[in-house]
Amino acid sequence: MTAPLIDPFQRAISYLRVSVTDRCDFRCVYCMSENMTFLPKKELLTLEELDRMCSTFIRLGVEKLRITGGEPLVRRDIMTFFRSMTRHLDSGALRELTLTTNGSQLHRFSKDLYDAGVRRVNISLDTLDPDKFAAITRWGKLDNVLRGIDAAQEAGLRVKINAVALKGFNDVELFDLTEWAAARDMDLTWIEVMPMGDIGNEDRLDQYWSLKDLRAKLESRYTLTDLAERSGGPARYVKINETGQKIGFITPLTHNFCESCNRVRLTCTGELFMCLGQEDQADLRVPLRNHPDSDAPLEAAIRAAIARKPKGHDFDYSRQDVSGQMPRHMSHTGG
Ligand code: GTP
Ligand code: 5AD
Ligand code: SF4
Repeated sequence: MTAPLIDPFQRAISYLRVSVTDRCDFRCVYCMSENMTFLPKKELLTLEELDRMCSTFIRLGVEKLRITGGEPLVRRDIMTFFRSMTRHLDSGALRELTLTTNGSQLHRFSKDLYDAGVRRVNISLDTLDPDKFAAITRWGKLDNVLRGIDAAQEAGLRVKINAVALKGFNDVELFDLTEWAAARDMDLTWIEVMPMGDIGNEDRLDQYWSLKDLRAKLESRYTLTDLAERSGGPARYVKINETGQKIGFITPLTHNFCESCNRVRLTCTGELFMCLGQEDQADLRVPLRNHPDSDAPLEAAIRAAIARKPKGHDFDYSRQDVSGQMPRHMSHTGG
């Protein structure tokens, strides 16, 4: 029996987030700069290598696999990879295969995702106003994403909406977004904007809207009940009694959730990041490529990396150097 992955703080690692591409068809202002340089395609792990990586993690006890990016659905042939993971769902080793997406391609892929065993998708959407949507994504079309959401629900996928809380942007839409999501039977999770990536002139401190304030605004209209349940991710949930829907809060800044962290992140080039908010990483591509016939060196490298997982991240808005605190872009590590 293989020993599970346990880090130095006795946290079991059962959740792997995999960024399959650093590319995206949008350029959300808090995520990317306008002129991003993307990796040459030959740098990426191949789909077969991604399969071998993920299968190794699953053998070591990973039960939840979330595919991210960039935008995972812009990677060519990505459905082949999803389908290759179905066998781990069928064997019972993998409990959940899922993805975080901007929704722009969901009208094409929802049915195939369902057929591959995906049952839930998280879709990023910060505003319901087409002009504001085009501004925050730099050119995205809201209609396309709304069409993708419909297609996902029609295919039987449960949809959760992720919105980054931005002062002076979607604070005025709090109730509209809540009621729009409730009418479609979708949960909504709010995320505090994190100081990731050098994104040019955007001022994080001006944009930052704490979820404590957001919650207070919700409470001015609704009655909230705190829920004990967790999804296996970092969100804490409340129920809105009036609508019955769940609202999630991801609060890396105001309420650190690191003590219950169960996840690590694999980049599209095979680096393993033990924490979203730390620079330490392990290069897993070397043991993968140098040992095509044995997974033992890869397993050893994974265990050695987990043994270095830090206690928590260092994001801190009380410091002066907010914008460049974590130079790595979110799309590199997989938001
Ligand atoms: P569920 O399975 O639905 O709970 O998903 P999740 O919240 O784990 O995944 P999702 O991709 O929806 O995550 C939403 C956002 O939460 C990410 O894009 C990140 O911005 C943030 N997030 C997720 N995990 C971490 C983490 O370990 N640390 C920090 N600081 N933020 C995280
Ligand atoms: N802070 C918080 N969330 C972010 N995301 C991207 N960049 C940031 C950031 N700097 C979110 C996206 C999406 C998920 C993949 O990560 O909105 O929901
Ligand atoms: Fe693309 Fe998501 Fe980053 Fe927006 S947040 S640019 S949709 S990866």
